[in-house]
Amino acid sequence: MPVISAPYAFNEGELFVDLETICGCPLYLKCEGFNFAGSIKLKAANEMVETAEREGVLTPDSVLVESSSGNLGVALSMIAASKGYRFLCVTDSRCNLSTRLLMEALGSEVHVVADQDSNGGFLGMRIDYVRSLCASDERYVWLSQYTNAGNWRAHYRTTAPEIAEKFPELDVLFVGAGTTGTLMGCARYFRQWHRPVRIVAVDSVGSVAFGGEPGRRMIPGLGMSMRPPLLDESYVDEVIRVEEADTIRMCHRMARRGFLFGGSTGTVVSGASDWLAAEDARRRLTAVAIAPDLGERYLDTVYQTNWLQDLYGDHIFDAEEQLRTVADLETGGRADAPPVEEVGGTPRKPKSASRAPGRRRRP
Ligand SMILES: Cc1ncc(COP(=O)(O)O)c(C=O)c1O
Repeated sequence: MPVISAPYAFNEGELFVDLETICGCPLYLKCEGFNFAGSIKLKAANEMVETAEREGVLTPDSVLVESSSGNLGVALSMIAASKGYRFLCVTDSRCNLSTRLLMEALGSEVHVVADQDSNGGFLGMRIDYVRSLCASDERYVWLSQYTNAGNWRAHYRTTAPEIAEKFPELDVLFVGAGTTGTLMGCARYFRQWHRPVRIVAVDSVGSVAFGGEPGRRMIPGLGMSMRPPLLDESYVDEVIRVEEADTIRMCHRMARRGFLFGGSTGTVVSGASDWLAAEDARRRLTAVAIAPDLGERYLDTVYQTNWLQDLYGDHIFDAEEQLRTVADLETGGRADAPPVEEVGGTPRKPKSASRAPGRRRRP
């Protein structure tokens, strides 16, 4: 184990969970929540801050300001505290309470935007707010994760090579899309790799990142209420969209096996397992998905009964229970048996993950 003196100097990059017994399909999950910021956003935050320092944009009396649904805010709070900068995070009412408290505990100021923009999201409002702050005082420095190349470069330099090293036979990579920094960094890296890798972007229903109708989205991290400026769709082979109810069900399914992940991990794993279940079963693909964070920050949302019932109704787990009952009958109730993915001999159809038509497929 390394010995560190700065909190941003440690990140576990080599941990993967084999999800086959949970999902019933071969899928490895790269865990990005094991660092002092608790999420994948540490990488983007480090890269953007170091670049701004190198370029002389950040000086000791600068005040960092950023729009974040939470995780980047926590990562920047940690880095700012460690390096002696002030940091102001502009977030919205979907930000988890624990995430906000974390930022404040690290010494940051948090402003919560309450008004939604015309797409039903908060992003436009948050960005307008940041712009007005920057116009009011030149000490504010906005790193702008939505447009900053350091956001995708961090994943090109770290996340993608970490996956490549462990899975030299990788066939398909599932990446959740928010700012698309993770997606674009990995996609650019694997485009130049020694073998073709299918890049599948996972978005939430209601996000307009790849087009489509705007709708209610309650789980932070994934999805955008505008087209992400970093997105270059020529690097993306397919897009799948996942309903929030399926996200929740997958989070709870993993939690029942002892793996407490964040909401967006449920989205990515749900989309990936439906995608893999619909693939030709004779081809055993090497598939990896990325888990951006862990579940503690979601105890008052994704893992809280009242919150779930208010938003998704009383019957959100009924389909999952039915599937488990059939699985129990077929396996004789063995606790360690993988969930059955075939009911009555018919392969289970993807529930709501929909593939965008007309995407380029590489061999
Ligand atoms: C929990 C979570 N999931 C997914 C993402 C999406 O990552 P990216 O912004 O690189 O697309 C984020 C980004 O903030 C996140 O916090």
